[in-house]
Amino acid sequence: MAALAAVRQTDSRQIDVQLIAEARKKLIVALDFSTIDEARAMVEQLGEEVGFYKVGLGLQLAGGDRFAKELKDQNKRVFLDYKYYDIEETIRNAVARAAEMGIDFLTVHGVSGILRSAVQGRGSADLKILCVTVLTSMDAEDIQEMGFPPTMTVEDLVVHRAVKAMNIGIDGVIASALEASKIKSLSSGKLMVVSPGIRPEGSPPQDQKRVATPSEAVKAGADYLVIGRPITDAGNPREEANKIIVEMANAMREQ
Ligand code: C5P
Repeated sequence: MAALAAVRQTDSRQIDVQLIAEARKKLIVALDFSTIDEARAMVEQLGEEVGFYKVGLGLQLAGGDRFAKELKDQNKRVFLDYKYYDIEETIRNAVARAAEMGIDFLTVHGVSGILRSAVQGRGSADLKILCVTVLTSMDAEDIQEMGFPPTMTVEDLVVHRAVKAMNIGIDGVIASALEASKIKSLSSGKLMVVSPGIRPEGSPPQDQKRVATPSEAVKAGADYLVIGRPITDAGNPREEANKIIVEMANAMREQ
């Protein structure tokens, strides 16, 4: 009896270790700093806890491209979130450069010509192109302000752009966790969903409007969670990242 209980305990611990490792792969930490020194210090502080980083517009002109290369040299995965929006020839060239750098994820806007030229620019490289649907900092009022009719909901617009991206052969979309399960089911699981706007219970939403907890996002089917300030502004970022990973692993177990 005691032997059986010990085996069960070992099994459950092994499952936990496996789930934690799976959860860790799904976490992308947004390095929204204004200097490379600050971003580098955060990566050092997070150590082995985090293996995937997002470099965005805030770091771009501070040397973000070189820093992205530095992260790749440390065997980290890199999401370059530059949200490209330009004519097709420019998009093809820009995406081809990201592919040459060995970048893992890259964002472009959800316009057919841009999406098609991004796929062409990527060629046979192992770079995932992600379509920005509707920023998680936007709600119904914001999309009306952009000129969409009041009858169109945020979810309608997200779904419209996700379907377009899927038909063009894009790998995934950036969408809030609130739309994740819908996108997963309409694409029969083919589209990867990467969700920002993640806030652990009790964390302030700040400028984010369509938010979910790490657990809710995992349960909704988000493949990757992009988390910035709740980790990078924490008193102990490594401990906070670990807490979030454990929450994600628990949600994965409950699924
Ligand atoms: O600090 P926080 O967790 O809100 O950071 C979210 C990150 O995700 C930011 O770097 C932001 O630029 C990015 N993002 C987003 N909404 C999108 C696409 C990207 O918040 N739709």
